[in-house]
Amino acid sequence: MTDVEIVEVGPRDGVQSVPTWIETERKAELIHALARAGVGRMEVGSFISPKAIPQMKDAEDLVAMLGPMPGVRRMTLVPNTKGAIRAIDAGIEEIIFVISMSDAHNMSNVRRPTAQSMDDLQSLLEEVDAEGCLKMRIGLATTFDCPFDGRVPERDVLDNIERIVSIRQGMELVLSDTTGMATPDHVRALTAECLKSFGDVATFAFHGHDTAGFCVANVLAGLEAGLRIFDGSVAGLGGCPFAPGATGNVATEDLIYLFHRMGLDTGIDIGLYLEACEIALSFPDGATGGHARIIPLKRLMESLDGKFRGRGIAAE
Ligand code: COA
Ligand code: ZN
Repeated sequence: MTDVEIVEVGPRDGVQSVPTWIETERKAELIHALARAGVGRMEVGSFISPKAIPQMKDAEDLVAMLGPMPGVRRMTLVPNTKGAIRAIDAGIEEIIFVISMSDAHNMSNVRRPTAQSMDDLQSLLEEVDAEGCLKMRIGLATTFDCPFDGRVPERDVLDNIERIVSIRQGMELVLSDTTGMATPDHVRALTAECLKSFGDVATFAFHGHDTAGFCVANVLAGLEAGLRIFDGSVAGLGGCPFAPGATGNVATEDLIYLFHRMGLDTGIDIGLYLEACEIALSFPDGATGGHARIIPLKRLMESLDGKFRGRGIAAE
């Protein structure tokens, strides 16, 4: 049991934004390196329309190449029931269905209003249930800010969550700062409200991009408000093809380093994780970010004082 759980989204949210084609073998190499470092849960790709994001078109081949990964829950994003069936057929352990809290972003992302995505969720769940038990995660895109409409009213977010938990209780809901423009006071207040109103019928997580440079502060605000599950992307790789101007997710290695410095175990070996960063950094035209990997390794290790070597080293 770790103190906080980091969900790695680089191979999906990060890689989907890389404009140059990345060979399936290279994607698999990154995923295996992340698993070696001790990442226990990871978005490995998405089963979407290949026309929407061509970089994700090899999802079946990639999942087949990966094979079952002991100790790693492989997750894929799906936009509809068709995607969910592809994920089930591929043998994926968990799927993420994304619903934007603002209509304008939902239209841009999946070409339908938010209310219609709620109906889609209901029919998708019926299909998933018929096929057996699959873990469900719901990405609440634009929880804080929309690239088209600006700040999203808290009331809209809470109403949408109410609708989701009326469809199904017990799912993981990811408060997502899709544009990377949220501020810590906003994250703290809305997270606290979500936990107070829905904490007994859903699990909450935070997914942040770092456009304004506030994301580590936003993660801490979420932690203080009571969250224990945070998304990050290897070397800060990413952006969002449907949120103009948004940069990558917060760099996972920055979160690992921060939590370990604070005495909170993530189960991940930072030394091995930094090796995985090198693979992400080698992708041509990938936008990257983050700070921990810039610190000289010796200095970084000394500052951790030998704490938290993670599952990675233990497994070797
Ligand atoms: N997997 C593969 N193909 C799919 C698909 C899926 N999950 N869903 C739809 N398609 C195909 C259809 O078969 C159809 O193919 P055709 O043109 O060869 O007949 C085509 O895509 C259009 O289908 P339609 O149902 O009309 O969808 P659309 O054009 O309205 O697009 C989405 C809607 C949701 C499928 C598309 O916008 C999408 O995949 N978006 C993903 C966005 C994303 O991943 N964003 C980043 C995450 S936040
Ligand atoms: Zn994202």
